Amino acid sequence: MNSTRRNFLKKSGSLVAGAVVTPLVSTKLGATIAPSDTVRIALIGCNGMGHYDLKDHLKIPGVDCVAMCDVDENILNERAADITKLTGKAPKLYKDYRKIMDDKSIDAVIVGTPDHWHCLPTVHACEAGKDVYVEKPLANSIAECQVMLGAARRYNRVVQVGQQQRSGQHWHDALAVVKSQQLGKIRKIKTWGFFEYGKTSPRVPDSPVPAGVDFEMWLGPAPSRTFNTGRFHGNWRFSWDYGGGLLTDWGVHLLDIALWAVDGDMPKSILSAGGIYAYKDNAIETADTQTVIYEYDDLLIEWEHAGGLNKGYYGRNYGVAFIGNNGTLVINREGWEIMGEIESGKPKIEALPLQAADKKDHEKHVSNFIACVKSRQHPICDVEIGRNSAMLAHMGNIAYRTGDKLYWDKTQQQFKDNPNANGLMLPSYRNPWEFPVL
Ligand SMILES: NC(=O)c1ccc[n+]([C@@H]2O[C@H](COP(=O)([O-])OP(=O)(O)OC[C@H]3O[C@@H](n4cnc5c(N)ncnc54)[C@H](O)[C@@H]3O)[C@@H](O)[C@H]2O)c1
Repeated sequence: MNSTRRNFLKKSGSLVAGAVVTPLVSTKLGATIAPSDTVRIALIGCNGMGHYDLKDHLKIPGVDCVAMCDVDENILNERAADITKLTGKAPKLYKDYRKIMDDKSIDAVIVGTPDHWHCLPTVHACEAGKDVYVEKPLANSIAECQVMLGAARRYNRVVQVGQQQRSGQHWHDALAVVKSQQLGKIRKIKTWGFFEYGKTSPRVPDSPVPAGVDFEMWLGPAPSRTFNTGRFHGNWRFSWDYGGGLLTDWGVHLLDIALWAVDGDMPKSILSAGGIYAYKDNAIETADTQTVIYEYDDLLIEWEHAGGLNKGYYGRNYGVAFIGNNGTLVINREGWEIMGEIESGKPKIEALPLQAADKKDHEKHVSNFIACVKSRQHPICDVEIGRNSAMLAHMGNIAYRTGDKLYWDKTQQQFKDNPNANGLMLPSYRNPWEFPVL
């Protein structure tokens, strides 16, 4: 460790570098697995991130993949062949995740489906006594996030949300500095994402459902719609029925870091503006350009995105900046640095050059999940943390969609005097799927 970095960490009063990241809370969750036992996992949703999640789980000794499920047979067969080659064991294959719930030998599931399909498998897995690694954002609506938290608590399950930054050492190092007040009073936390892929693909005509795809099951609880590749694998992020655009896709990761600094506190008001300004002809419903302002008593959290671009602030296309009276700390997955303010020609704080990340966030996150499955501790990104950051992201989209300045009632967990906005907290589930009741 270089001496400047050591200085910062020492001053922060927390020797976090190299330290083991401890769980958020220590209440024990219903014990089922002995530390020496193999953890038998199943993957639901195998294409992109689910496959990546599974492969990192399989790097941990004592983890077996016993089942895989996808509504697209082509993806399922291709990914299963890959896993069989990797492990030498063929998992059981399913097209309907409910069959996995019936299999008592499965200890845990990974949910790697699109956002509109996170809630039901997670709640059903909790009911079936299985632990869950669910991808971010926790769900595609605030009400689903709440019921998932409720299910995890009611059935005493370990639920880790795929916000892997929570396991990354450099995020812990930087947050310790932020919390130490060396930066002075933090008055603004700026978060942003300028991503090329945020413009999605050009609009294309509807087409027949590809062979091997159970499209009804892909839609699941979402409204009935024709098949269009612009809303299918990967591209669903930019249609409201399945995702919330860059704000819930990347925003949720970065807003989570802002919430970490304020201990999960929710804002008193939310304001957003934006639109489809650059890519009017593309397959996109969510805003390609959007700003959200979250107001606290003496702090602003900001989110800003511009899909299709790749230049952002402080020379980074995405990141978080903690802006304090003495200096600004900027961080993303590459590393973090501090830029000091100058007053009367003198630096108010020592600048800190880039502290490179070890890029092990995801592996550590997955290991933390498996360790918690065995120890029955809450994981580092417990479902409550995932609920909070998904909620913050959805609040921004609800402010954008209503065009109103929204006021959050922390006690009632709803917007004050705004039925329209409160209506957007709830998903409408299509028959035969029902919103879970606990
Ligand atoms: N943590 C991260 O850094 C990170 C990165 C990328 C994506 N993600 C998240 O991972 C999730 C998946 O994203 P992706 O890009 O891999 O999407 P994708 O569209 O590429 O893959 C989703 C897969 O789920 C399958 N699926 C859909 N409904 C299903 C159902 N009912 N049962 C079983 N399978 C079903 C699809 O057929 C598809 O194969 C999203 O929630 C996304 O936000 C997280």
